[in-house]
Amino acid sequence: MQRHLATLADWESQEIWETLELAAHLKRELRGGISHQQVMCGKTLAMVFQKPSLRTRVSFEVGMNQLGGQALYLGPDEIKLGQRETTEDIAIVLSGYVDGIMARVFGHDVIEELAKYATVPVINGLSDLYHPCQALGDMLTIWERKRVLEGLKLTFLGDGNNVAHSLIMACAKLGLSFRIACPEGHEPNEQVMAQARALGGTVDVLHDPREAARGADILYTDVWASMGQEAEASQRAHAFQGFTLDKALIHEAAQGCMVLHCLPAHYDEEITYEASRDPASAIFEQAENRLHAQKGVLARLMG
Ligand code: CP
Ligand code: NVA
Repeated sequence: MQRHLATLADWESQEIWETLELAAHLKRELRGGISHQQVMCGKTLAMVFQKPSLRTRVSFEVGMNQLGGQALYLGPDEIKLGQRETTEDIAIVLSGYVDGIMARVFGHDVIEELAKYATVPVINGLSDLYHPCQALGDMLTIWERKRVLEGLKLTFLGDGNNVAHSLIMACAKLGLSFRIACPEGHEPNEQVMAQARALGGTVDVLHDPREAARGADILYTDVWASMGQEAEASQRAHAFQGFTLDKALIHEAAQGCMVLHCLPAHYDEEITYEASRDPASAIFEQAENRLHAQKGVLARLMG
């Protein structure tokens, strides 16, 4: 059966670990000047975007180039996913041209439909429900600094959104405990939490950021209004008052705590600029690791 990366829920813990190990290996060798041009030689990745991107777009394209393949950018105005022709037809047609499809979409059902009809791997580059490539890069970043994942406590401050959902899955699969502090009404998706708990994961929902930050090994945040929620931005800014990741919250966390943010950041909303530049912050290592983690995914699925 064709393998995809729609959500980390579909990947066994061992596959996730092997991908992280492969990513770390490719990163080390890249730094050592070793070429990986043979891995994806002659292969093409189609990158379909319904939403904007800096990190996802650039890291996938550069990653394909470093592996000897090429990436084709198909922006919102090009194939007009969901408007010009059916997702089913797009999946079948693209499968005849390319060796893999990465898609950034609104509804997660679009990823599922691409995966259902494509005969090449489909990689979720963010949907409204999940952002698995982000969580893989995040786990690589945590592992590099802490040299361990199992038993760590990750606290997410803010919206129970796509990024939080993929972190919940990654934590459940890799043995970290997950805790979120969010305003009432912004909790993560119930089904996602239930699925993670069924895997043996710990998922705690709190509404007090200080209490949630206490003793955390990782403090993580993301924007309060995600792409597609722009019209709710001012109402959300009001609802999330008091949930800003700042130096005071870093002091509540465990010694040696890490600060993460998937970026883009809205400084002085979900995180202060000061917290983002604190020695605890690994936000730019994290951004770079999107490249290395995704190369692990590409090599695993298409190499
Ligand atoms: N973190 C992330 O996915 O960034 P982009 O939206 O810039 O791709
Ligand atoms: N939750 C954010 C993540 C951006 C990488 C969004 O969906 O816009």
